[in-house]
Amino acid sequence: MSAVIPNSHFIDLKDLPAEVLRNILDTAKCWKAARTSLPKGAVDDGAPLAGHTLAMIFEKSSTRTRISFEMAMQQLGGTSVVLQGGSMQLGRGESVADTARVMSRYVDAIMVRANEHDTVLELAKEGSVPVINALTDRSHPCQLIADMLTLEDHFGDMTGRKVAWVGDGNNVATSFIEAAVRFGFSLTLACPDGFLPSEAALAWAKAEGGDIALTNDPVAAVCGACAVVADAWVSMGDEDVDARMQALRPYQVNSALMDHAADDAVFLHCLPAHRGEEVTADVIDGPRSLVWDEAENRLHAQKAILAWCMGKI
Ligand code: CP
Ligand code: NVA
Repeated sequence: MSAVIPNSHFIDLKDLPAEVLRNILDTAKCWKAARTSLPKGAVDDGAPLAGHTLAMIFEKSSTRTRISFEMAMQQLGGTSVVLQGGSMQLGRGESVADTARVMSRYVDAIMVRANEHDTVLELAKEGSVPVINALTDRSHPCQLIADMLTLEDHFGDMTGRKVAWVGDGNNVATSFIEAAVRFGFSLTLACPDGFLPSEAALAWAKAEGGDIALTNDPVAAVCGACAVVADAWVSMGDEDVDARMQALRPYQVNSALMDHAADDAVFLHCLPAHRGEEVTADVIDGPRSLVWDEAENRLHAQKAILAWCMGKI
């Protein structure tokens, strides 16, 4: 068994060159195609992560991320340990730095869903194994590898195509902005004042030459878009629920809005969804919705991310 040679951390798409992200995405595509007829728990040919263990820390709830990472390690021939942040000494005040140093002695990689982005950065700085950001208040980069896989499976090359983000300029929106730059698609975000995307992410995208536009008008945003993307109006950790509901109400993705998008436009949502809020049931459960493929693709995306972090691709 070869020793683990950490490749790198997977913290934000902006930190990684386009070629690395392309390698991860192409690997995900290839490994997805290679195991279509296998039971879900069967190990892939060659067991790329045999002998490797991933620790997952959850400071926030999760369904897709938790299960897809656990099954990803199973399919890659490795193992995983799931930890709730609140049940660790971390939840009683042990420092992130000490936690990182100790965990690095036990496991080959750490995945973390953290309340604060700085927790992920600190784990990466103080630990000695790869760290994967599985959602923070800043970003959700793993989601975007799955979303790109979903879009490329459906449309092929996304270069130059227009995608519309409608709703809160939240953590997933930040990762969409970074994905647009790294994968070369055009992104228009329609967000209300007060819930605009991160100024830092927009400034970074502009400096990188990204094709990113911002508007308050959902119809203008979706016009000509091949994909319309929504997310919850209230993310985990948000407390200003009433203000969000009021400001975001005009940003619902419904059939009338989808009719302004391209004729072949699809709908994406990272889930969990709130029917009747950010999206109507007829859209998310209708023929244009790719949300179940998108959810499945979390698994395939995660496998490639893990393999890259651990130096296997
Ligand atoms: N999309 C996503 O990250 O889902 P979970 O919160 O269920 O992990
Ligand atoms: N923006 C949402 C995404 C959930 C997967 C949140 O942070 O709660």
